[in-house]
Amino acid sequence: MLNLGILISGRGSNMENILKSIKSKKIPINPAIVISNKVDAPGLKIAEKLGIKTEIIESRGFEGSREAYDKKIIGSLTKYGVTPKNGLVCLAGFMRIISPQFVKKYKNRIINIHPALLPSFPGLNAQKQALEYGVKYSGCTVHFVDSEMDTGPVILQSVVKIKENDTEESLSKRILKEEHKIYPEVVNLFARKKIKVSGRRTIIG
Ligand code: GAR
Repeated sequence: MLNLGILISGRGSNMENILKSIKSKKIPINPAIVISNKVDAPGLKIAEKLGIKTEIIESRGFEGSREAYDKKIIGSLTKYGVTPKNGLVCLAGFMRIISPQFVKKYKNRIINIHPALLPSFPGLNAQKQALEYGVKYSGCTVHFVDSEMDTGPVILQSVVKIKENDTEESLSKRILKEEHKIYPEVVNLFARKKIKVSGRRTIIG
């Protein structure tokens, strides 16, 4: 069975939802390790409660290069069997850019969720960006990670209609609901080897 590593920085609701879905929906993947770059990420406690191993690899105060930091992450993933041959890495609110070396090593095995319909509104505060731009629809995107920010091949997207009285909070809440639907679905598709990448496109099924 494939081994799953989840990388978080904070709340961890996507992580929690993926871990619970693995159990309830019988997704054929072993949740091997949750790694946080922040010592106080609330998601760590949730993972522990669910009986999943956790590691903290603090990025704050880390003096080395991005590549050196990512080597530590790769070391931890490898320790738990999340390898380029037999692993899947899910970024779930992991607020760091991944080095090209990490991406290359785990080619098409690192997945991210972003709270907008990429390529619109990449980067931070995507929901706020969408409201400020005035778009009528936003949503979320699960995509493979490549060496730039939020640019890799799209796997699944879900659309959310923006209401006239939406605030960043209300929109984020509705988008998060969709995130919780499509992220476990992608993990399931990946675990069952149903996702193929052809150039920028993914083929599902
Ligand atoms: C989620 O909304 C996720 O899409 C977003 O951070 C939140 C993490 O929440 N990620 C990004 O903005 C990445 N650019 P969570 O910790 O509760 O899963």
